Amino acid sequence: MAEQKNILFETKDGILYLTISRESKLNALNFNTLEELKNIFNEVNDNKSIRGVIITGAGDKAFVAGADINEISELNELNARKFAEFGQEVFEIIESCHKPVVAVVNGYALGGGCELAIACHMRIATTNAKFGQPEVNLGLIPGYGGTQRLTHLIGRTKATEILMTGDMLDANEAKALGLLNHVEATKEEAIAKAEEILKKIMSKAPLSIGMIVDCVNAVFANDENGYQIEANSFARCVKSEDYREGTKAFLEKRKPNFKGE
Ligand code: COA
Repeated sequence: MAEQKNILFETKDGILYLTISRESKLNALNFNTLEELKNIFNEVNDNKSIRGVIITGAGDKAFVAGADINEISELNELNARKFAEFGQEVFEIIESCHKPVVAVVNGYALGGGCELAIACHMRIATTNAKFGQPEVNLGLIPGYGGTQRLTHLIGRTKATEILMTGDMLDANEAKALGLLNHVEATKEEAIAKAEEILKKIMSKAPLSIGMIVDCVNAVFANDENGYQIEANSFARCVKSEDYREGTKAFLEKRKPNFKGE
């Protein structure tokens, strides 16, 4: 994987660890960082040795404190639309990734940071995490899919309140609303929890995991019939080596050895 300027990465035991690393700006997402995310996730999809991804923010204060306000303070209508469409494209790539992606949210996840977290497949927060969409304080609205994904995730009633007030939620409030999978005391414990979940998923059939992503995403796509996608995916499973291996291993009372084929 090519060196990136704003995102640190390391691969260990099949897990790609990404750290958004602009700590002095609370890891705010500038254009270059978004572009780096896009490049990385395009490679994740193609690289068989990467089986799961953990995204976190550098330091203990912030996951990501939003889009970089320095870059969005002088937009015009044309580049504002491009800005939103590019962010939406990158987050869609993350959401559609066929490897599980877990956000470890340490501190502020505001604006584009909250949108990044909710584009990931799962979220584990530390107790000091704070979630919010404060764009209304800037005369803006979320542009990276936040109005859509937040509403899908926690429902219209609470999402509307959060989007209109710009209020922040702490980790326990976010968990109670269904925004989080787990809350852990420290970043180390949150990463350990993410690793535990990813390792379990990595023991399953990789093609099945990718199909789960497609089927779950289809629930939220207006132009797709999720039941049809589920039936098609189910049918595709039986063409895989892993299907033969999984069923055979069960009957032979042994653990399956999946190859992602
Ligand atoms: N874009 C650019 N820079 C940001 C940023 C953002 N979204 N969020 C924080 N920063 C920068 C600050 O400007 C400051 O930089 P400086 O030291 O060069 O002045 C640095 O990060 C530290 O932030 P600071 O505001 O001093 O920390 P704080 O603890 O007082 O407050 C926050 C933390 C998160 C409450 C506050 O930074 C904030 O409200 N950030 C903006 C959140 C937002 O509106 N996000 C949505 C953007 S669309």
